[in-house]
Amino acid sequence: MTTARTIDELRRALAPLGADADVGLVPTMGALHGGHEALARRARAECAVVALSIFLNPAQFSPGEDLERYPRDLEQDLLLAAGWGVDLVFAPTVEEMYPADFATWVDVEGLGGTLEGAARPGHFRGVATVCLKLFNLVRPRRAYFGQKDAQQAALVERMARDLNLGLEIRLVPTARDEDGLALSSRNALLSTEEREAARALPRALAAGERAHAAGEDAEEAARSLLAAEPRLRPDYVRVERLDGRVYLLAAVQAGDTRLIDNVVLEGAVE
Ligand code: PAJ
Repeated sequence: MTTARTIDELRRALAPLGADADVGLVPTMGALHGGHEALARRARAECAVVALSIFLNPAQFSPGEDLERYPRDLEQDLLLAAGWGVDLVFAPTVEEMYPADFATWVDVEGLGGTLEGAARPGHFRGVATVCLKLFNLVRPRRAYFGQKDAQQAALVERMARDLNLGLEIRLVPTARDEDGLALSSRNALLSTEEREAARALPRALAAGERAHAAGEDAEEAARSLLAAEPRLRPDYVRVERLDGRVYLLAAVQAGDTRLIDNVVLEGAVE
């Protein structure tokens, strides 16, 4: 596995592959876990070359969010990525990605301002911009995104179509802990009690899924289950159509940590 810390190093690593190389890219912010693994292994099965980026992107965090306490461990991440069969890791510094005179941003209208975008103004502008930069740098044929962040995946898909990026966005199902909690780098920030309370989130979504299948109101079913867990503060619980599928999506606050999750009500993610 090759590790590139600068854009020059990345270009040197990619050059021998040629312009038409069958590269799959897995963009991440590090603190790698089983969710990232699912993406990397899918890419490994589908692409000749697997690239994984590790960049804790400050542009998608607002002041006062958890950028400072976000977990980071590059050494451990490199060991994990090598074990998953990743060929190339791109782990640039902030200065490398955003030099002092950086001035160009990508805004995806509509999708960028609802749900997570409404709760976290500027978040998706940071996501879209860094993803476009990563796509331009790595030039992948396919890029892999997790269903856990379904709105993000739909937004990147919208950008790829609108800007004719000519790459395929692949969606991978959510990887979960044994008790149903979606794996997330932020789970490491939860106290024991918050971690226990967090189980109510996947349970509420499962209740919503059952209600929907029975012709009942999915949002209401999920909300009433969440209301029974006083240690979680719900933000939104919403049924939305994203990129051709119907999702039940929820965001909650557990102490200082924001958790999001979703289930598909109509359509499948395979
Ligand atoms: P990060 O939170 O590190 O997630 C990287 C990718 O892993 C995303 O596509 C996310 O949806 C996926 N992922 C996270 N948890 C998952 C789980 N439990 N199951 C399946 N996939 C999961 O999302 C980001 O980073 C950033 O916004 C990024 C796209 C890298 C841009 O900075």
